[in-house]
Amino acid sequence: MLEKRKPINELLKKTQKNVVAAGWVEKVKLMGNSLAFITLRDRTGKIQLIAKKDFKNFDLIKDLTNESVIIVNGDVQESKQKSGEPELIINELEISSLAYTPLPVDIFGGTTGLDKRLDHRYLDTRNPKINAIFTIRSKIFKAAVDFFDKEGFININTPKLTGMGVESGAELFVVDYFGRPAYLAQSPQVYKQLGVIAGFERVYEIAPVFRAEKSHTTRHLTEFTGIDMEMGFIESEQDVIDVIEKLFQFIIQEVNKNCKEELKLLDVKLTIPKKMVRINMDEAKEILKQNKKILKEDDDLDAEAETILGDYFNKKGSEFVFVCNYPWAKRPFYHMKPVDDPRGTKSFDLLWNGVEIATGAQREHRLEIIEKQAKEKGIKLDNVYKEIFKYGCPPHGGTGLGLDRMTQRLLKIANVKETVLLPRDPERLNP
Ligand code: 4AD
Ligand code: MG
Repeated sequence: MLEKRKPINELLKKTQKNVVAAGWVEKVKLMGNSLAFITLRDRTGKIQLIAKKDFKNFDLIKDLTNESVIIVNGDVQESKQKSGEPELIINELEISSLAYTPLPVDIFGGTTGLDKRLDHRYLDTRNPKINAIFTIRSKIFKAAVDFFDKEGFININTPKLTGMGVESGAELFVVDYFGRPAYLAQSPQVYKQLGVIAGFERVYEIAPVFRAEKSHTTRHLTEFTGIDMEMGFIESEQDVIDVIEKLFQFIIQEVNKNCKEELKLLDVKLTIPKKMVRINMDEAKEILKQNKKILKEDDDLDAEAETILGDYFNKKGSEFVFVCNYPWAKRPFYHMKPVDDPRGTKSFDLLWNGVEIATGAQREHRLEIIEKQAKEKGIKLDNVYKEIFKYGCPPHGGTGLGLDRMTQRLLKIANVKETVLLPRDPERLNP
């Protein structure tokens, strides 16, 4: 039967005979032995199926459980119900798979907690609202790819199994690699720099990033999807910021255009950001001081500080703020220092409604200075690492963003785990 299957949204468009629909049973209503109503759902919508007295396999319907998968053949007729939607009169019905009962998740009622929902994510996502999050995430992903492509970046895939720590500071997962230790990449950092050095000049990667952080927050995962880019021949980190600004404008414009139904379902309205605010760390600290949050010269922004800055700039009509010139004390060795400011770095974080969604910088590209800075941080550089920078390295910079956090901020979702199909946290390794 399936070769004749039509998506439900097409069946709803007009009356038609001898058509096939397939999907999940959302509800069955039996009216005695001669009439039944079934709500059938596929990825495009829902339709009411009707089995009448002359339908020969009425017994099949008596056994149907919610969320079973069925295939039906029948005729679409104009509605006789108050909903006004067309209905399908069943001629034939085939059960593909009967769902066990009871269902472990209350898919539509919203009474099941997040943990249980994640244990049975494949049921949870059958709720169109949850489903919409993933459609939007997929469009963000596509928009990012389209953007980098049109801006002349090439996609690279870098190793996730590595012999060296590639992001100083971030915690490493160690795995057994045929008897010797290997690490799961905590960032494609050195590899995307290698991409610039390799002559590609502009590279991007959208791929898993692993962090052995035992954080139980609404913004941390142990495995997340990084959107990373690196670009050569930049004048300063401001060139990187310009590209990020355009990236967000493009992504939000594309989601707005292509996800109207989903945004409506999630009750989210998007505004395409104009020029984004750019401030220096000392200005940020001054604003924080006015709001009774005192940070010292070498301090980083903590979550509270980010929230305060988010609120402050939101009131001024800007959801986004770039905080530039982070203290050298809090940045990795590979960030470039400004010529006139040895305590600063040519780096920035991007906050979106008060949460960090990107970190970036101009990188130090001169090996002697890289070595000096590593030494200052007490890091012994691997020879493999040093070799990469020896044979011609352009001035360059880049950024790392989290696709999961981006989806979270865009849709104003409380917990980042809601934006990941199968999230990983310190406790969760399954399914
Ligand atoms: O700020 P991070 O650690 O920066 C880097 O990885 C650098 N290599 C970036 C660069 O190019 N200089 O990570 C980048 C972004 C964060 O801003 C955040 O959006 C996301 O990745 N991220 C996480 N998302 C979810 N869970 C976590 N544990 C995350 N850690 C970082
Ligand atoms: Mg960061």
